[in-house]
Amino acid sequence: MLQVRNLHVSYGSIAAVRGIDLDIAAGEIVALIGANGAGKTTIARAVAGLLPYRGEITYADRLLKPNSAERNLRLGIALVPEGRGILGSMTVQENLLMGVYTRSDRAQAADDLAEIQGRFPILATRKNTMANLLSGGEQQMLAIARALLSRPKLLLLDEPSLGLAPKMTDTVFEMIAQLRDEGLTVLLVEQKARQALKIAGRAYLMETGRILTSGLASDLVGDQLLSKAFLGGGPLPA
Ligand SMILES: Nc1ncnc2c1ncn2[C@@H]1O[C@H](COP(=O)(O)OP(=O)(O)OP(=O)(O)O)[C@@H](O)[C@H]1O
Ligand SMILES: [Mg+2]
Repeated sequence: MLQVRNLHVSYGSIAAVRGIDLDIAAGEIVALIGANGAGKTTIARAVAGLLPYRGEITYADRLLKPNSAERNLRLGIALVPEGRGILGSMTVQENLLMGVYTRSDRAQAADDLAEIQGRFPILATRKNTMANLLSGGEQQMLAIARALLSRPKLLLLDEPSLGLAPKMTDTVFEMIAQLRDEGLTVLLVEQKARQALKIAGRAYLMETGRILTSGLASDLVGDQLLSKAFLGGGPLPA
């Protein structure tokens, strides 16, 4: 579904991503793991079309273009950004409506909105609440729900567990696995390596702009490079 070839992204003189290759097949969860500053967000944003880059990103046999986020969204690529990107001073419902604003199929979009409120009952219960009054976990649900309303085929999740209590992290990860079971393809950017590897089929391990190794998630769990990528051999994040 997605092929990334020789991707380079720089911020001025900082080369954040230096020639990476990455593949995602339809229906799988691929984890992208690495420590702070490795370049994970940069890759997710490049795939979403939010950055200039060099190299090739192909999605569903189409060559994507840098800086073309709206086109990528229409093609079915949705990003749930790091920090969630919801608007705190707007209500839950207003945030959800932002997820359908690009859609021309109004009737279907209304059905999807109702369906999503069935899937996330908390969002229905609290639809008139300001989004910044939700808990961190509820805000993450809202961010994912909003992304789903664009009817994505490929969902890019940038550190969905950030700032969540362990139990809420489990809930969010279970939900991601369920979305995969329903046919969605997922790129899961995470620092919580062990938990990400539990639900991912395959994974890529990054260190300072490069891919250190990749493979089946079940094989990577025991890989020495995994602890090397975090704190030079220190303890792995849960
Ligand atoms: N807007 C920016 N301007 C300049 N440098 C940036 C910018 N965004 C990221 N960088 C740098 O690019 C590198 C990769 O950053 P990126 O955010 O992709 O890493 P990350 O793996 O997502 O890290 P984290 O786990 O902390 O979110 C880092 O060295 C970072 O400082
Ligand atoms: Mg990041």
